[in-house]
Amino acid sequence: MSDYDVIIIGSGPGGYVSAIRCAQLGLKTACVEGRETLGGTCLNVGCIPSKALLHASHMLHEAEHNFAEMGLKGKSPSVDWSQMQKYKQSTVDTNTKGIEFLFKKNKVDWIKGWATIPEAGKVKVGDEVHSAKNIIIASGSEPAPLKGVEIDEKVIVTSTGALTLGKVPKKMVVIGAGVIGLELGSVYARLGAEVTVVEFLDHITPGMDSEVSRQFQKMLVKQGLTFVMGAAVQSAEAAKSEAKVTYKLRSDDSEHTLDADAVLLSTGRRPYIDGLGLDALGIAMTDRGQIQVNDKWQTSVEGIYAIGDVIEGPMLAHKAEDEGMAAAEQIAGHHGHVNYSVIPGVIYTHPEVANVGETEETLKAAGRAYKVGKFSFMGNARAKANFAGDGFVKLLADKETDRILGCHIIGPAAGDLIHEVCVAMEFGASAQDLAMTCHAHPTYSEAVREAALACGDGPIHM
Ligand code: FAD
Ligand code: NAI
Repeated sequence: MSDYDVIIIGSGPGGYVSAIRCAQLGLKTACVEGRETLGGTCLNVGCIPSKALLHASHMLHEAEHNFAEMGLKGKSPSVDWSQMQKYKQSTVDTNTKGIEFLFKKNKVDWIKGWATIPEAGKVKVGDEVHSAKNIIIASGSEPAPLKGVEIDEKVIVTSTGALTLGKVPKKMVVIGAGVIGLELGSVYARLGAEVTVVEFLDHITPGMDSEVSRQFQKMLVKQGLTFVMGAAVQSAEAAKSEAKVTYKLRSDDSEHTLDADAVLLSTGRRPYIDGLGLDALGIAMTDRGQIQVNDKWQTSVEGIYAIGDVIEGPMLAHKAEDEGMAAAEQIAGHHGHVNYSVIPGVIYTHPEVANVGETEETLKAAGRAYKVGKFSFMGNARAKANFAGDGFVKLLADKETDRILGCHIIGPAAGDLIHEVCVAMEFGASAQDLAMTCHAHPTYSEAVREAALACGDGPIHM
C-alpha cells in the first residue's frame, strides 16, 4: 500500500497527460492501467494505429493516381498487408513506450492492473489498496453495441478488429457514416475493398456544417465508396468468413441485404466504467451513462474527479488531454480551464475535414446574424501544384462585429490549418485580424487568409 496525492485511473490521453501535469505541479502521482501498455484507446487501438493505416493507404493512392503525372514512372507499389500491420504496430509501440519514458522522467508511478474504488480516498488494484487524497477517473470509452449485430472481432468487427483484419477484405460493409466508419472505410477502399457505408440519417457526419458534409460525401463517392442513406440496420450475421447485413430503408420500410467478408460497426462509443464500483460509491451519472461532473471536473463524491470520454462532450483525445491538465491544475489549487467552444474536430481522410466553433446551422438556430467568407483551394497555388485543389475554407464571422465564430475546412492539411483559426478565436479576433496577418506564399494557409478576406472586401485570388 502506498499513499499518493493523486491516483489516476486510466492512461489514455486524459489520464497520462493529467498524471504528468500533476507530477509537474509537485503532487505525488500514480496512474493505474489495466492494459499491457500505456496510452489508452488513442495510442493502442484508436488515433495512432488508424492514422498509420490512413497514411500508408494514402501513399498508395498517390502512387497509383498522381505519380505518373509528376514524371515518376514505374510499377505502382502493391500491398504487403502483413508489413503494413508491422509498420502500424511499430508506430503504436514507439508511442506507448514514449509514455512509459515520460512517466519515469516525471516520476509518475505506473500501477499495473484494473482498479476499483472501494471508497473515496482508496484505490484497489489486485490485492493492494492504495490511498489517494484525490482520484481522477479517466477510464475512457468502448464501442457501443447495436441490437442484432453480433461482434466476433474477426468478420463482424468494431474499430479494434478493423485495425487488425487478417486480410484486406474484398467487400466491406460499414455501419454508420461517422468519423470511424469514414476513416477506416476509406483506408480499405484505397487498399482495394468494395466499401458500402450504411447510414441511418440522410447525411453523413452528423453535427458537421451541412455544406461541408455534402461536399465530403461527394468526394468519398468519387473515391469509390458507396453510400446507402436513411437505412436502419436490423442485423449483421457471420457464417465462417462471410457476413450478411440486413437493413430497412426508412423511406418505404423495404428490407434489403448486403453480403460482405468484413463488417465494421461504427455507430458510436459509450463511456467505460465497468468494475470501478461507481454504483456503490453513489457517483451521479447523466442519463446518457456518463459520469456527471461540475466545472472543476469534480464528481458528486468529494475527492473524486472524472475527465475524458467517460464524461460529457466530444469523445476526442485533445479534449481529454485539456481536461486532464485542467483537473490537475484544480487539484493543485490553481485555475484549470477548458474553453469548450474552441475544440477543433478533424477527420483524417484525404482530403482532411476540420472544424471549430459554430456551424451555419447552429447560428441560424440561435438567430444570430453572421457572414460567410469562403475560398476554394482551386485558387491556391500550392494546392493546385499538389493535386489538392478540391475543397474549400469557410469562415463564419459575426455580421456586426466581424468576430470569428467558426471555421470549416475540407481540403489539404485541414487538420493543421484549423489551428490558426482556433488561436484567433481564443484571442477574440475578427476576420479582418486574420486577413491582415501576413501569410507565407505558397502555403495552404493562404486559403484561410483568403476566406478571411472574403468576409470583408473580397478575396484576391478568386
Ligand atoms: P481512453 O483513451 O479510452 O483510455 C482509457 C484507459 O483506461 C484505457 O487504456 C483502459 O484500459 C483504462 N482503464 C479503464 N478502466 C480501468 C480500470 N478500472 N483500471 C485500470 N485501467 C482502466 N480522437 C482524436 O482526437 N483524434 C483521432 O484521430 C481519433 N481517432 C480515433 C480512432 C479510433 C479508431 C477510435 C476508437 C477513437 C479515436 N479517437 C480519436 C478518440 C480517442 O481515442 C478518445 O477520445 C480518447 O482516447 C479518450 O481518452 P481517455 O483518456 O478519456 O480514454
Ligand atoms: P459517430 O458518432 O462519429 O458516428 C456514428 C454514425 O452512425 C452516425 O452517423 C449515426 O447517425 C450512425 N448510426 C447510428 N445508429 C445507426 C444504425 N442503427 N444504422 C446505421 N447508422 C447508424 O461514431 P463513431 O464513428 O463510432 O466514432 C465514435 C467516436 O470516436 C466519435 O465520437 C469520435 O469523436 C471518436 N473518433 C474521433 C476521430 C477523430 O477525431 N478523427 C476518429 C475516430 C473516432
